[in-house]
Amino acid sequence: MVTATDNSFYPRRKLVMLPGPTNVPERILLAMARPMINHRGPEFHQLYEGILRKSKELFRTKEGEVVVISASGTGGVEAAALNVVRPGDKVVVPVFGEFGERMVEHVKRAGGSVVEVRAPYGTAPEPSEVERALKSSGAKALFVVYNDTSPGVTYRWLRDVSRAAKDVGAFVVVDAISVFGGDELPQDDWGIDMVVAGAQKCLSLPPGITLISVSRELKDYISRNPPSTTIYFDLSKYFEFNKKLEIPFTPAIPIFYALDESLNMVLEEGLDKRIERHRLAAGAYYSALEAAGLKPFVEPRVRSNVVIAVQYPPGVDDAVFRDLLDRKFGVVVAGGFGSLRGKIFRIGNMGDISPINITQTLLGIAGALSDLGVRVDASAMLAAARDYLKPLMS
Ligand SMILES: Cc1ncc(COP(=O)(O)O)c(C=O)c1O
Repeated sequence: MVTATDNSFYPRRKLVMLPGPTNVPERILLAMARPMINHRGPEFHQLYEGILRKSKELFRTKEGEVVVISASGTGGVEAAALNVVRPGDKVVVPVFGEFGERMVEHVKRAGGSVVEVRAPYGTAPEPSEVERALKSSGAKALFVVYNDTSPGVTYRWLRDVSRAAKDVGAFVVVDAISVFGGDELPQDDWGIDMVVAGAQKCLSLPPGITLISVSRELKDYISRNPPSTTIYFDLSKYFEFNKKLEIPFTPAIPIFYALDESLNMVLEEGLDKRIERHRLAAGAYYSALEAAGLKPFVEPRVRSNVVIAVQYPPGVDDAVFRDLLDRKFGVVVAGGFGSLRGKIFRIGNMGDISPINITQTLLGIAGALSDLGVRVDASAMLAAARDYLKPLMS
């Protein structure tokens, strides 16, 4: 039991290299300590106006409308399904990881009839397969997980399948929860109707909010056909309240402060530079891990820049390895889940990442594996990472 004098509940600071939650920069932590304000008053209006304006730059949308919901990412995907899908609608869902499976479940629970396009985990369906499914099914929508965090796969043909969906008049809905702010996703250019973004991933925020950007066409549809199955996630209410720079329900104000600060940090760095930083960091990880004799789990064409999934060498136990890495080296990484449990570990390469924490992570991995009897050449690892990390050191 935790008592008033027992502070064991408060963890010591570690390097959190999970694919969410990620390390939260001091600036963002401090922003959350600001005083409480009236969510129907001028201070909130000013805060929310800035959030809407700045986040549109990240979504790369001029015509889209952004809403912010106080819920974790799952709430954002649930909102997407409940607002777009009506009973009997055909919806195409590429499935190549656990979040694709979950997407199928969301669409089914909204009453949709799902046309799955599957690929083994570690790969992704060819765009031609998705196009075929769109054409043959008469789909109302395509729901895609852009970066499936469970195998560490980014769907690199999102632009192509989005175009194919538009050709058959289908809405395109994208779960970008784990990748928003860390890889390319120009909403207007790629013709995406709805992008769902997460907080505790590439935006380096604490968990608890989700941002959704909606195209004008889909906004009109939702405003004319609000969902009857939900109040909290009825986006037509959020559109109405956006007009007065408010949220229909009580927003998680400290996380709104944090979001505003995170958006400032992204725009100060520059979105393109930030995406390039994630790409270089991913290059450093993949080349270093391969130099150490470890095998990335995902085929090169669809490898994620924000989740680095690595196969365990034979004989290494997932729980023992991660416990050692955490306790002895102060680095926290994730295991696999679902069918990948025990087979892979995953490094979050998201948000507040730098050559220093990448190097600490690599050395921790080398140290923990060495302790478990796996020979790892740490200097070969660092040499392989060097060219990628050099541009990030200035
Ligand atoms: C791709 C993807 N979708 C949805 C979710 C669910 O988000 P949350 O755990 O914030 O509810 C996650 C979380 O890891 C995710 O990575």
